[in-house]
Amino acid sequence: MLTTIVVGLLVLIAFFYVAIPLLAPDQVDRLPDDRDPQLVDLNEEKAALLRAIQELDARVDLPAERRRQLHERYEAKAAKVIAAIDEREAALAGRASKRERRETKRVPVGAVVVLGAFLLLAAAVPTYVLPRVSSTDTITTTDVDVAQQLQAAQRAAQADPSAENLLALGDIYLGLQRLDEAETTYRRIVDELSPVPGAAYKRLAVLALQRDLTQAQGWLELARGAEPDDAETLYLLGEVAFARGDLERAEDAFEAFAATPDGAADPTVQRRIELIGRVRPLQAAVLADPSEENLLALGDAYWEASEPQKAVESYFKVLTDHDATQPRALARTGQLLYLAGRPSDAVGAIERAAVSAGGVAALEPDAVMTLADAYAQTGAWEEAARTYDLYAELVGPELGAAAKALAESARTQASGGAAGGTDATSLAAVGRQVFSANCVECHGQRGEGGMGAQLAGNPRAANEANVRDAVRFGRGMMPAFQAALAPEQVDAVVAYVTRVLSQSEL
Ligand code: HEC
Repeated sequence: MLTTIVVGLLVLIAFFYVAIPLLAPDQVDRLPDDRDPQLVDLNEEKAALLRAIQELDARVDLPAERRRQLHERYEAKAAKVIAAIDEREAALAGRASKRERRETKRVPVGAVVVLGAFLLLAAAVPTYVLPRVSSTDTITTTDVDVAQQLQAAQRAAQADPSAENLLALGDIYLGLQRLDEAETTYRRIVDELSPVPGAAYKRLAVLALQRDLTQAQGWLELARGAEPDDAETLYLLGEVAFARGDLERAEDAFEAFAATPDGAADPTVQRRIELIGRVRPLQAAVLADPSEENLLALGDAYWEASEPQKAVESYFKVLTDHDATQPRALARTGQLLYLAGRPSDAVGAIERAAVSAGGVAALEPDAVMTLADAYAQTGAWEEAARTYDLYAELVGPELGAAAKALAESARTQASGGAAGGTDATSLAAVGRQVFSANCVECHGQRGEGGMGAQLAGNPRAANEANVRDAVRFGRGMMPAFQAALAPEQVDAVVAYVTRVLSQSEL
């Protein structure tokens, strides 16, 4: 509605701008053209004659009769000149008025072109100017484009509720995070149309993922039925079935995915298939006999495949159903707690594991390192120093160098307390905590890299200026930490990366 008014107004303005000069040309006054050369000459002649007459009147040396004759001659000449001037001015005025009329009859092409272009623009993209959206939406300029797309998609789906149009509309809702409307739209396809395109089922699966994996898997099975070779469907089905522990369907889907061009190019899928192959008989054994031994074997297989979450599901059953002090199950549960940001719970679990294993030294080195980190993170610096030292002993001098440095810095923290925070070595121990809280998800617990660059043994990670810059301002996919971390935390994590991590071997 508003758009129509604006366009209407623009048309009116254009009309007045173009038409009024055409209808009333005399409206505009023109200045006389006094730069005409003939007129200039005549005026100069007139001035000269008048000057001559004045001079003549001043000449007392001439006889009166002679002066009168000359005076009359000059005056007659001046009269002629003045008449000529009048004539010329009249002639110029007439020409000017003719020219004026001719000019106003010419269409002002430039102005019309500009206005025309403006009107076209306004008519073609009215929603860019004034997006038409429901009153419940808040609009920022970046939304305008989407709002226009949404409007177009809504109209298209109304005019022709085809699968294609409804999918496009649902996708726009999805992009706008209007999930309920997206779901309703996709469901219309499923309920009202036949055949249902796999894409509609797939979208419903994605929407179901967050609340109900079983339902999501159901939609994905339907999507696969509609489009058996769709790589994305097969991959998602594999992941969802795997997460639900439905290993048979997961293996089947991953194998089908690996047979697609996308799947063949994906290096992770083979590892998934191998893992499932290894885990399936173990899971079957657990189902047949959920003994401690079977549960531990299943947990270990998941743990070694870097699936700690799934592993701990099994370990947890060991702890609740069989042996509440099983050391490996306890320690690994503690490690997962540490990774989940619960260092005190981690300390509790790993200490109990150490008690039942017969000492911290009897635990796996990884668990010992996590315990040291968890001590440090909870401010138990003495315990941390002792445990880092123990880890260094367990893994040998080469792998243990970084832990030695950490033990050193933890000791400085322990003796210096808060005042020791500026000391370079003690900073590293704090830095390691900052690192595990903020950086490991991308750079790995040991700086081995992942989504982020490898930092362990990386000479660029020993360059303080480079590291500080990356941490403060971010880099590529890496976020900036300037605002998220306190200045001392930045100093600490930079010290840890440059002095410990970059010097360590993997
Ligand atoms: C979201 C993932 C992510 C997080 C979190 C992250 N990084 Fe990075 N980091 C990256 C990526 C990706 C790069 C490579 C950037 C590039 O060069 O394009 C990188 C690069 C770096 C570099 C530069 C390495 C080089 O070769 O110059 C350093 C140093 C670094 N990160 C340290 C850290 C520290 C310290 C933290 C925690 C405070 C951290 N990163 C958190 C992803 C991350």
